[in-house]
Amino acid sequence: MEFLKDKKRARYFYKYFSKIYDFVNPFFYSDEMRKTVVDFADLKKDSKVVEIGCGTGFTTAEIVRRVGEENVTAVDLTPEQMIKAIKRFPKANFLRGDAENLPFRDASFDASISAGSIEYWPNPQRGIEEMARVTKPGGRVVILAPRKPDGYIARKFAESIMLFPTTDECVEWFKNAGLKEIKYVETGPYFFWSKLVVIISGVV
Ligand SMILES: C[S@@+](CC[C@H](N)C(=O)[O-])C[C@H]1O[C@@H](n2cnc3c(N)ncnc32)[C@H](O)[C@@H]1O
Repeated sequence: MEFLKDKKRARYFYKYFSKIYDFVNPFFYSDEMRKTVVDFADLKKDSKVVEIGCGTGFTTAEIVRRVGEENVTAVDLTPEQMIKAIKRFPKANFLRGDAENLPFRDASFDASISAGSIEYWPNPQRGIEEMARVTKPGGRVVILAPRKPDGYIARKFAESIMLFPTTDECVEWFKNAGLKEIKYVETGPYFFWSKLVVIISGVV
């Protein structure tokens, strides 16, 4: 049923979840994982990067570390989440917006990154196509998605909350978006089941 794969519900969920988000997130999203996400974008020092679903700025922090605040543009649906990221990185550009209708011209950025947001998008294929559209030819699109759990009960529970795609589904979405040189890794925080997420990237 994927209860939270609905923009209005996701937005209200995060309005309240934002109060404890920074405490909970590190249990599921380790420093190693966010480094891998940003490694997958093949950034240069002056790359212009857009981040979709930036939340309170966990991944933003790693992108900023590589390219500097001024080169980062970040989008999120939930102001209560984004306000925390704005406080952390006042020189970055923040916009309230929807992953499936990005408010940018074609080929505006050298890379686009989205970690842990696709599971709330009603149309993930459209979101990936939007990321590809706003990325320059030769640039990379990177997604971190929660992977469909291997066990039956965990899978049924997970699927009742939001989207947990298989790695194959992610690869298919990337191919359908015209992305090339697709690479991925299945990983997770060390104390959890090992393949909690898939990190995938492709070239425009
Ligand atoms: C798990 S949190 C943020 C993860 C964040 N990237 C990080 O590194 O911690 C997911 C975020 O996606 C945002 N979101 C959900 N649906 C969205 C959409 N359609 N467009 C943009 N942002 C969305 C939520 O508001 C939330 O802040």
